[in-house]
Amino acid sequence: MKSIVVLASGNGSNFEAIVKKFREWKLNVDVKELITDNKDAYVIKRAKKLKVPVGVLDFHGFNSRKEYNATLLSHLERLSPSLIVLAGYMRILPAFIVRRFERKIVNIHPSLLPAFRGLNAIERAYKSGVKYTGITIHYVDEGVDTGEIIEQRCIRIENGESLSHLEKRIHRLEHYYYPRVLRMLLTNHF
Ligand code: GRF
Repeated sequence: MKSIVVLASGNGSNFEAIVKKFREWKLNVDVKELITDNKDAYVIKRAKKLKVPVGVLDFHGFNSRKEYNATLLSHLERLSPSLIVLAGYMRILPAFIVRRFERKIVNIHPSLLPAFRGLNAIERAYKSGVKYTGITIHYVDEGVDTGEIIEQRCIRIENGESLSHLEKRIHRLEHYYYPRVLRMLLTNHF
């Protein structure tokens, strides 16, 4: 049976959308665990409610970034998922994890990459004056938001639209497409 683990650091709305859609579709894919580096992340509450096992690797409880990432690697190796899904994971995966799981780690980013890599992408796109922005789902490589693009969807920023309205529309797009793209990668069915 195919399986995924989800790595998230914060709110977890994408995590929840993935779990709910997979269940609705009765997809034969096990969501093995939600892993978080943030012991206070709201995503933990979502996972508990959805009865998905939670692995908390509290980043600040480790002596160094290296120690944290070494623990993360052995945790991932033990779970051995078909795909590692980043959904608002706020740390950069080190090269030794990326290489170990080559083309098995995917991320979602709220802009049309390569535009607006990094943090606060929706706001930066909004303030830049571009007329179109969107979402990108991509494989993770050793750079920041630089891996091979799997899927992109774009939306037009409406005249006079507020930032919060745009954010809502971007998240809606994410929640629609991320589960579907993951399903395609896991089953070849979009
Ligand atoms: C999403 O906008 C995603 O594109 C970015 O981080 C955000 C996570 O949101 N990588 P959530 O935690 O899934 O609600």
